[in-house]
Amino acid sequence: MIVNALRRIVMETYLHPVLVNFTAALVPVSVFCDLAARGTGKDSLSQTGRWTMLFAGAVTPLTAITGWLFWMKDDVGVRGMAIHKWLGTALALLIPALALWRARTGEAKSRPSALYLGAALVLLAALVLQGHLGGVQVFSDM
Ligand code: HEM
Repeated sequence: MIVNALRRIVMETYLHPVLVNFTAALVPVSVFCDLAARGTGKDSLSQTGRWTMLFAGAVTPLTAITGWLFWMKDDVGVRGMAIHKWLGTALALLIPALALWRARTGEAKSRPSALYLGAALVLLAALVLQGHLGGVQVFSDM
């Protein structure tokens, strides 16, 4: 019953297509700021990289939950959407994990390691694929 009520809210407000924008903006901004901080040595960029990844870690599970509630009949049996469903679910776990990793780089010494940046770039590539698959399903008939 609660699930049906939530599904109705998500369907009526289009909450999934709204929340995807937060995940899709915060993760690249974070990775870009951390890379730029490495190049320029600017601490403000590094702090922005840290905080934006923390916000991405908070919002992405909601992005994925609203995706599950937004699932429609015409998504069933579509290969790209099967990948979208499971890749999105994996990202809902991996992005918060990445955010926790980033959070452990304390306020004083806020530069992340090369290993962290490598992992963040891999997740960013997966996120681009994720957005592409969702967009193909929504816009390919237009
Ligand atoms: C990181 C997580 C996710 C991201 C970034 C993401 C991204 C997207 C994007 C960009 C769209 C196109 C929306 C538009 O512009 O109108 C979309 C649509 C959609 N996504 Fe996701 N998504 C995620 C997770 C999920 C999950 C876990 C599911 C389901 C289990 C899901 C189900 C859907 C559905 C049903 C649509 C609409 C497809 C249609 O209109 O037939 N998404 N998603």
